[in-house]
Amino acid sequence: MKITSFTAAAAMLAGTVIAHGNITNPQARLPGPAMKAACGAAAVQAVMADPTTPLEDVTSNGSPKCNIGLCRGAQFQDNMANVQTYAPGQVVAMKAILPIPHEGPMNVSIVDTKTNALMGPPLIEFASYADENLAVLPANNTAFKVTMPTMASGMCTVPGACVMQWFWKGTAAMQTYESCVDFVMAPAGAAAPARAPAAAAVVPVAFSG
Ligand SMILES: *[C@@H]1O[C@H](CO)[C@@H](O)[C@H](O)[C@H]1NC(C)=O
Ligand SMILES: *[C@@H]1O[C@H](CO)[C@@H](O)[C@H](O)[C@H]1NC(C)=O
Ligand SMILES: *[C@@H]1O[C@H](CO)[C@@H](O)[C@H](O)[C@H]1NC(C)=O
Repeated sequence: MKITSFTAAAAMLAGTVIAHGNITNPQARLPGPAMKAACGAAAVQAVMADPTTPLEDVTSNGSPKCNIGLCRGAQFQDNMANVQTYAPGQVVAMKAILPIPHEGPMNVSIVDTKTNALMGPPLIEFASYADENLAVLPANNTAFKVTMPTMASGMCTVPGACVMQWFWKGTAAMQTYESCVDFVMAPAGAAAPARAPAAAAVVPVAFSG
């Protein structure tokens, strides 16, 4: 029966793929022509062969344009159709797949793509994530929510300037995983109430809360 043999073949193939994890929602950056131009064909091939592969298995061409440690080398230009627009305080539901768990810390953070600097504290943080010693992973390992911070005016308003990066490190496995969601913060102007000087201040720092 055709279906059976197809399923068997697919299972065999799945068995040979070393798969670890990535973000599936919102749509994160995927490898594409811009990544090929920045990081080289071998890097793109490694991610195409296993979209859940750790950074350690992706070899850059050494070009300064390529930083495998940021978004696993994936480029904004390959994800321009998927720029999310978020408002301060907005709750964003995220989903991950973890075909092969490896215990270690995880966080989702906003990263400045020019400097690779973290912009404020993580939006969510796990000291222990994807623990393969558990019979069943906690539901929040693959479905969780983050709350967008209030950012200083003008921050993360230009597409590509910031990413929301899912970062997970399998401590014993010594493997690092990254998925990057492109987003912009909605301009505060339009819907925001007029600023009252005496109001329990909206302090112009990068983050609140
Ligand atoms: C996540 O991995 C799956 C395959 O396991 C792939 O189909 C998907 O494109 C990947 N997504 C990202 C954002 O890497
Ligand atoms: C959180 O993620 C960032 C990368 O986005 C990483 O540099 C940092 O080490 C992580 N923090 C922890 C505690 O793992
Ligand atoms: C994830 O869920 C577990 C319970 O299953 C809970 O103990 C833990 O605090 C949650 N972690 C986060 C970061 O929400």
